[in-house]
Amino acid sequence: MEETFADQLHREAASVKATSCSPVAGTTVWSCPSNIALTKYWGKKPVQLPKNPSLSMTLKESVTRTRLNFIFDPGQILPDLLFRFDGEENPPFRDRILAFIKSLTPYIPLLDYTRLQIESENTFPHSSGIASSASAFGALALCLVEMEAQIMGYSDPAQFSKKASFIARLGSGSACRSLFPGYALWGASPQWKGSSDEFAIQVTDYHDTFKQVMDTILIVESGQKRVSSTTGHKLMNSNPYSDLRFSQARNNLALLRTILQKGDWKAFVELIEEEALSLHAMMMTSRPGYLLMKQGTIDIIHKVRKIRHETGIHMGFTLDAGANVHLLYPSAEAEQVDDIVVSDLMPLCENGNMIRDRTGEGPEKK
Ligand code: DP6
Repeated sequence: MEETFADQLHREAASVKATSCSPVAGTTVWSCPSNIALTKYWGKKPVQLPKNPSLSMTLKESVTRTRLNFIFDPGQILPDLLFRFDGEENPPFRDRILAFIKSLTPYIPLLDYTRLQIESENTFPHSSGIASSASAFGALALCLVEMEAQIMGYSDPAQFSKKASFIARLGSGSACRSLFPGYALWGASPQWKGSSDEFAIQVTDYHDTFKQVMDTILIVESGQKRVSSTTGHKLMNSNPYSDLRFSQARNNLALLRTILQKGDWKAFVELIEEEALSLHAMMMTSRPGYLLMKQGTIDIIHKVRKIRHETGIHMGFTLDAGANVHLLYPSAEAEQVDDIVVSDLMPLCENGNMIRDRTGEGPEKK
């Protein structure tokens, strides 16, 4: 059987002699954006592997910035973690991150001898309802893999992104897609060379019209969602429609590939809306079924479709696992859509709240 990337990392980790590395203290700082899936990941198998491939657009403005200070001393076993979010200690976040870091020692064995201090902040408001796990785990994975490279003194850019995406995936599946400029694909798919369930790859083959896509995030609900993505993924195991959904996602990915290459905005809009509604249909048809859309979500969907029908403007919605709406449109039509957003859609948002985002260039080392 072919060696998996996890096997390869295990093998490499087993050959690392932490005790032969010199004690060192250092800092790594990364900012990592969030991403919005165009074809959705919904349903997973152990360990954090997707039931179907997904393709996302990396965002520009919705970013997590993480600073990691570390002290590595192979003479002592001192794993320890101090975690601050927005300048304040946050015990629930710390516990989740500590569990994540402990789970990484098979891949980054030096963590057993490392004391960590992590400070993280988001550029988007804490309570905006934007999923921050993708950018947060993306930034943390980059910091940890760079820390390892610093301690061991190696540098291999291709391996770096692959390993960071692998590690980010273990924190939150969608996070592995945040590490690339433009578009990323996560999940083994025969048509995409180098694609894998274990990490994401950059998608580079697309028409100029998709170079710069606008994403206005219409905030319908800023609070915590009631059903977590983790629970939602689990419910797919017993959803009677799940197999159909996984094959629909595969078909849509193949269609999206052609759409992106051709620059076909009309087909793009149809496809992303179908994906968004299918995702939410899966939530409704789970046992127990649940609804994350709010009245505002539905009102916005109707409005977007009505205005598109009347004006022919290329704009389409997509949703993640929440009530907020991502409105995607070409940068060439940004002025017209912005007017529509202000006059027709903003009034449907919670306190008129929205975030103007767009295609981004991926993580940045600070
Ligand atoms: C609806 O990546 O948040 O946004 O792997 O359990 O952390 P975990 O789930 P998560 O799921 C994201 C689901 C989605 C679709 C997507 O981003 O593809």
